[in-house]
Order: sequence, then C-alpha cells, then structure tokens
Amino acid sequence: PTPVLVAIDGPAGSGKSSVSKAVASRLGYGFLDTGAAYRALAWLVLENGIDQNDADAVIRILADFDYEIGTDPAEYHVRVGANDVTDAIREPRVSAAVSAIARVPEVRSHLVELFRSIAAGVDKPGIVVEGRDITTVVAPDAPVRILLTASEEARMARRSAELQDDAAATAGAELKKRDQADSRVVDFLNAAEGVTTVDSTELNFAETVDAVIAVIAATD
Ligand code: C5P
Repeated sequence: PTPVLVAIDGPAGSGKSSVSKAVASRLGYGFLDTGAAYRALAWLVLENGIDQNDADAVIRILADFDYEIGTDPAEYHVRVGANDVTDAIREPRVSAAVSAIARVPEVRSHLVELFRSIAAGVDKPGIVVEGRDITTVVAPDAPVRILLTASEEARMARRSAELQDDAAATAGAELKKRDQADSRVVDFLNAAEGVTTVDSTELNFAETVDAVIAVIAATD
C-alpha cells in the first residue's frame, strides 16, 4: 500500500523539523525534511564558488546534484556526493544563500519530483514530509495537511534559546529576512483550504507533538 503522507508546512523557527521528526518516530513513520534538500543544493553551489544569484549556473549544477536525505527519523543525515553535510547545511552562509536558490522555478520542479518519489517509496506505513509548499504543491491531496505556526516572538525566542546573546540577535534578523524572501515564492504564512493550523505559540514541544498527532488521529 502507498504510505500515508502527512504534509507539514510552516515558517522558519516554527519547530517544524524537530516536531515532524518526533511525530514520525512516535508513529513509526518516515520523515522527510525538504528544506535540507534546498540547503544541500545551496551548499553545493557555494562549494563550487557559484554565485547563488546566477540562476543559469544554479540550474546547470542541478544535473550534478547527487544527494541523499535519510528518511529514518532515528538516523537523520544528509549527504551530497561523498560528503556528509548534515551539519554544514545549517551554517549561516548556507541559510543566507538558500532563498535565492529556492526561488528558481527549475530548482523547485526538480526537487518537487524527487520529494514525491521519495515519499511514495518509503518502506514504512507513512511519512511526515515538512517544508513550505508540501500542503499546496508537493502533496496537495495528502490525507493530512498541517500548517505549523507560532508567533514571530515565540519563534525568535526559541531560536535564541539555542544560541549566545549576540548570535541570537543576528539569527533573529536572518530568520525574518529569509521568511520574507521565501513567502514571496510560496505562501506558508496562511493555511490553504482544507489545511489544519496548529499554533504552537502557547505550547511546549511535547504539547505541540501531541497536537499534531491528534490532527493525524482525527483524520483516519
Ligand atoms: O526548512 P528550512 O528552514 O531548513 O528550509 C531552508 C530553505 O529552503 C527555506 O528558507 C526555503 O528557501 C527553502 N525551502 C523551500 N521549500 C520547501 C522547504 C524549504 O523553498 N518546501
């Protein structure tokens, strides 16, 4: 049978990745972090000394984009060619370059196809796929579609808690800038028709995971 697809979208710092991973672990589902694929491509672009704003050069490198994203929530890893880039794709230089790459239509259509085939082929009863356009473009017919939001204040506070004071201020500004750029390409700030909003502003991590699982349970 085709695995059940749980689509989760939301802005940066909404806790999407960690919540999705925890939900997948609890349900015995696979997990696909689509942002990691855009980040992996951005890493490859930077590694090759390509200007992220040179769309033609970015499109050319797509042909050589050999990447692997683990779909087992317990063994999450991202690889490009022979390099394990799991940590490198979180570096600020990658975060700063990724939006320019993600707005190239050829990049999006290429990755959307890959995400669909990864999701369809997972060897588990279901898969949680998270990103910005999963509920609207990658899997608009998914049985479960969730928009995970939190107030900007809450998102910044969570991101800052992971960092030192001055780094926190920079990260907050970066996050805001990235959301602005990304939301011009796909709308992940408003729930599309039929998408359930889970607002985690007043919830802690465990409560957010429970709220998402409750939405999934209510769907079958
Ligand atoms: O989720 P994360 O913040 O790691 O995503 C990194 C970047 O990848 C986003 O800022 C956005 O530019 C891009 N992205 C996207 N569509 C997705 C997931 C991520 O454009 N479905």
